[in-house]
Amino acid sequence: PSPSAASVLDLAPVVPVVVVADVADAVPLARALVAGGLPAIEVTLRTPAALDAIREITAAVPDALVGAGTVITAEQVTDCRAAGARFLVSPGWTDALLTAMRASGLPFLPGVSTTSEVVALLERGVREMKFFPAQAAGGTAYLRSLAGPLPQARFCPTGGIGPDNAAEYLALPNVGCVGGSWMVPADAVAARDWTRVEGLARAASRLTRAGGT
Ligand code: 3PG
Repeated sequence: PSPSAASVLDLAPVVPVVVVADVADAVPLARALVAGGLPAIEVTLRTPAALDAIREITAAVPDALVGAGTVITAEQVTDCRAAGARFLVSPGWTDALLTAMRASGLPFLPGVSTTSEVVALLERGVREMKFFPAQAAGGTAYLRSLAGPLPQARFCPTGGIGPDNAAEYLALPNVGCVGGSWMVPADAVAARDWTRVEGLARAASRLTRAGGT
């Protein structure tokens, strides 16, 4: 992956979305994902350990490209940047959040789930977005419908994506990458079964933007 990629969508076809409860898991988890071929990792700010996890992965796993997810405030943007996050992802957006994300200088993906939000972001000069929650908000049929009138918008769909439908998303012309937690099952993390995580990552890494193999 290119650390200087202007777009989150160009980092990797599949971005694992990770919830780190215990910071001690962060480095082995990231190593397993990188070893499995998934270097771009989104650590969600849903746990008190998240910022420390970003810091530790950044320091200890040079091949990982770690970003922050579930970023919803300007303060979090600042904290994530200071922790070493290389990209920012949000489930939704406001003008205040957009301003902060832009000011960070990091690639970012604000979340949308409706046509009007896509139009509003295009109006603000943002063409790359997270589509969330992807399955619940209309899935591939919805994204395919957007590609007609709004071909300039490109998406990272996330939410309800797994091995059975990831390739279908990646085959769409307006999808740059997909995100999801399926390669990091909670029971595998609880058992510290990093070999299993690596195997799931390897399978996911075989998916390509052309629709997978
Ligand atoms: C996200 O934060 O993008 C989603 O929670 C990931 O969704 P999933 O767990 O359904 O893959």
